[in-house]
Amino acid sequence: MNYESAMSFLSEYEQEHILKYYNELNNEQKNNLLSQIDGIDFSILNALNAEKNCKRGTISPIDAVTIDDIAKNSEKYTQTGIEAIKAGKVAAVLLAGGQGTRLGFDKPKGMYNIGNSKELYIFECLVNNLMDVVKHTGTWIPFVIMTSEKNNKDTVEFFKEHNYFGYNSEYVKFFIQDMAPSVDFNGKIYMEDKDKISSSPNGNGGWFSSLVRAGIFAELCTQGVEWLNVFAVDNVLQRIADPGFIGAVIETGSESGSKVVSKASPEENVGVMCLEDGKPSIVEYYELTEEMRYQLLDNGQLAYKYGVILNYLFRMDSLVEINKEKMPVHIVKKKIPHMNDNGEFITPEKPNGYKFETLILDMIHMNNTCLPYEVERSKEFAPVKNKEGVDSVDTARELLIINGVEI
Ligand code: UTP
Repeated sequence: MNYESAMSFLSEYEQEHILKYYNELNNEQKNNLLSQIDGIDFSILNALNAEKNCKRGTISPIDAVTIDDIAKNSEKYTQTGIEAIKAGKVAAVLLAGGQGTRLGFDKPKGMYNIGNSKELYIFECLVNNLMDVVKHTGTWIPFVIMTSEKNNKDTVEFFKEHNYFGYNSEYVKFFIQDMAPSVDFNGKIYMEDKDKISSSPNGNGGWFSSLVRAGIFAELCTQGVEWLNVFAVDNVLQRIADPGFIGAVIETGSESGSKVVSKASPEENVGVMCLEDGKPSIVEYYELTEEMRYQLLDNGQLAYKYGVILNYLFRMDSLVEINKEKMPVHIVKKKIPHMNDNGEFITPEKPNGYKFETLILDMIHMNNTCLPYEVERSKEFAPVKNKEGVDSVDTARELLIINGVEI
């Protein structure tokens, strides 16, 4: 891309101001700016003009395989899952491209030391959990880690420095998720500097297209992988490539599965699984109406009680199908540090614009079937979101200890 083609491209989106300082830049800066323009998906800006894409269909409760159901079928599910893993049909995908702003740690969240009397990093907890299955099945599971431009270098170096926490590095791969631009309330893209567009990771729904672009999806297909277990970085009790979960999804003929926990209370702020126009879906906690929050079934149970914990299993051939559709884009008001009209860098105190994100939970509704698979929250759900209070380092430490993990 050269200056002329960049200008004509930007004018389509009314973003010509990005090149305002072009003539002041040296050659390297000019090239940097042009390659950023080339690499960013500007079509995401259309979401600002689109009619609000959050109109929901008719929501109704969904059935899950409960802890009791699982206990009854445990042997069959586990056996099927183990067979799939041994046949090399399962890979694990760790989503670690987030910025972890709530935790307020200036490194990738996985580098956080959750240990008390010894070093125990979040990444290490996850690798240890995955190693349980590797040992059980005698099979190395391909382990793919998504980072962002902002944290890729730190993450890759950290894994190398720690010798992949004992994982076989031949089975570990990293890929970088795409970025989305940040805009002011009028839709004009912010600049961080004269040669730098303000951008941030495009949300955890960006994982699939970025995996494809990195060539890893094709590689996994060639190796014969059929299922991807996608999970978040921040749950230190996350069971990864859980044979029971994989077996249940396969045995029930589902295209995808989602681990769920029973909500601790109707007030708990967690996305819940449901049916939307008869298809599986997830309603975020802030979309739950008061009525839905407290609605009871005839058996006295909450109608919307299955909270998601960001641990999904996707069948790869159906991912290809759903990726033909555009994912909904969520527009989020944020404080965006940027360069002002006088060329000074400022950090705002209140939200001054929008960021764009796609969310993995929207992929569930794009599947025809998704099996909610209930797990015990005290054994599998210890999220590290906040510095203190709910879902914090302290609560996760307590849960690790309860589960016999030495910290
Ligand atoms: P969260 O929604 O908790 O976001 O991510 P976050 O960025 O980690 O944290 P806050 O909200 O700023 O405090 C849930 C999971 O999705 C991943 C995160 O790394 C985490 O595993 N994620 C999120 C990405 O991989 N990319 C993104 O763009 C956003």
